[in-house]
Amino acid sequence: MASSSGMKLVYMAPLLPLLFMSGVLEAAGAGSSADGTNGNLHGSVTSRPAAAPRGRSLPESQSVFSLDRYGARGDGRNDDTRALEMAWKAACASPRPAVVLVPAGRRYLLKLLTLRGPCKSSVTLTVKGTLVASPNRADWSDSDRRHWIVFRSIDELTVNGGGAIDGNGEKWWPHSCKINKALPCKEAPTALSFHYCVGLKVEDLKIMNSQQIHMSVEDSANVLLARLSITAPGTSPNTDGIHITRSKDVRVTDCKIKTGDDCMSIENGTHNLHVSKVTCGPGHGISIGSLGDDNSRAEVSGITIDSVQLHGTTNGARIKTYQGGSGYAKDITFQNMVMYDVKNPIIIDQNYCDRAKPCGEQESAVQVSGVVFKNIRGTTSTKDAIKMNCSENVPCQGITLQNIDLEMQDGKGSTRSTCRNAKWREFGTVHPQPCTATDTE
Ligand SMILES: *[C@@H]1O[C@H](CO)[C@@H](O)[C@H](O)[C@H]1NC(C)=O
Ligand SMILES: *[C@@H]1O[C@H](CO)[C@@H](O)[C@H](O)[C@H]1NC(C)=O
Repeated sequence: MASSSGMKLVYMAPLLPLLFMSGVLEAAGAGSSADGTNGNLHGSVTSRPAAAPRGRSLPESQSVFSLDRYGARGDGRNDDTRALEMAWKAACASPRPAVVLVPAGRRYLLKLLTLRGPCKSSVTLTVKGTLVASPNRADWSDSDRRHWIVFRSIDELTVNGGGAIDGNGEKWWPHSCKINKALPCKEAPTALSFHYCVGLKVEDLKIMNSQQIHMSVEDSANVLLARLSITAPGTSPNTDGIHITRSKDVRVTDCKIKTGDDCMSIENGTHNLHVSKVTCGPGHGISIGSLGDDNSRAEVSGITIDSVQLHGTTNGARIKTYQGGSGYAKDITFQNMVMYDVKNPIIIDQNYCDRAKPCGEQESAVQVSGVVFKNIRGTTSTKDAIKMNCSENVPCQGITLQNIDLEMQDGKGSTRSTCRNAKWREFGTVHPQPCTATDTE
């Protein structure tokens, strides 16, 4: 917990049991307040033992700011945006670690909102009930259709609680140009956006049916994302699970992600990211990139994807860059992965293009180097188990293939490996034999 680092153990001897109970108390929606006005919450309050006299605050206690105290209705129909904004403001101004509580068993309807820091102390948003996006698309003006809930410039923020965040995406998906080709391509909100957060934890939440990306971490550092369940139909457009950009020292663990787009998309400016124990699918798999679009510079390094399972995804371990970019994607390890009927289990594509017109040959490229694919097994739904399509001028360097066993699903024949401009080494047993097929057939 972010708050525990602020606890002063010197005071603690008689209070130790409290310290260990604080999670339980928080779970019961209890707490005491710094100024006396925000104590005495609605709902099932377990009152806590006598508070210390004023001026000598208990270092371990947290002030709790329940949405219901700020006029929230929690009926899923009335707009509770203002209540959350007010609860947040009060919590953010609290000199002691504060909890904003979304009570259990109710649905709180929210429009676009930004929860801003810096705050006086650490703040935890504990979602026990459900935060649900307004089903009315007209609540988003053209001035910002890209966000739903934004957390901005907050240090030591925790979002947790075991509850749900529901984007009501069914109201948006039919209007996507990917679903209805006659419509212009317009943006739809990202359910949760974290911008400029240092010391961020997002844990124990269900995030579902986002309008577009479920969760985006940008310009942040020292981040832990754990025990998240992210779900949307496999047919829903652009519903990436977790998107990370311009962030460093990020850990993602114990997550289940089933969506209509990338399970995780790892974009420009991501450094030192460790992903473990994640299950993906349906969706597009784990992607680094796309990088280098519109001749831009990209820098990505120190990525480990470990112990990931992919079920029926279009890609498994993927790196994709546009021609004409610059910079690097380096020091990347995909290991201990199991693929179940994945279309492209291992793929590096330096000729990526998702434009209507062909992107065309260009000389420069984002350099891809130091990439390890290790202990990867399972089945593919096409025979292209390993594909490395690299740039002629900036070939892929230092690619390691080690202990790989990829078979066609249902024993439907042999798999193959195609390569262009890739410098690779092989260790252990690699099946299919790397780079034996040509890509010209
Ligand atoms: C990617 O990050 C680099 C380094 O921070 C920056 O110079 C570049 O402008 C970024 N590219 C894009 C497309 O934002
Ligand atoms: C590699 O990329 C080029 C250029 O986009 C394309 O023509 C070729 O078919 C690709 N090869 C493979 C194996 O995908």
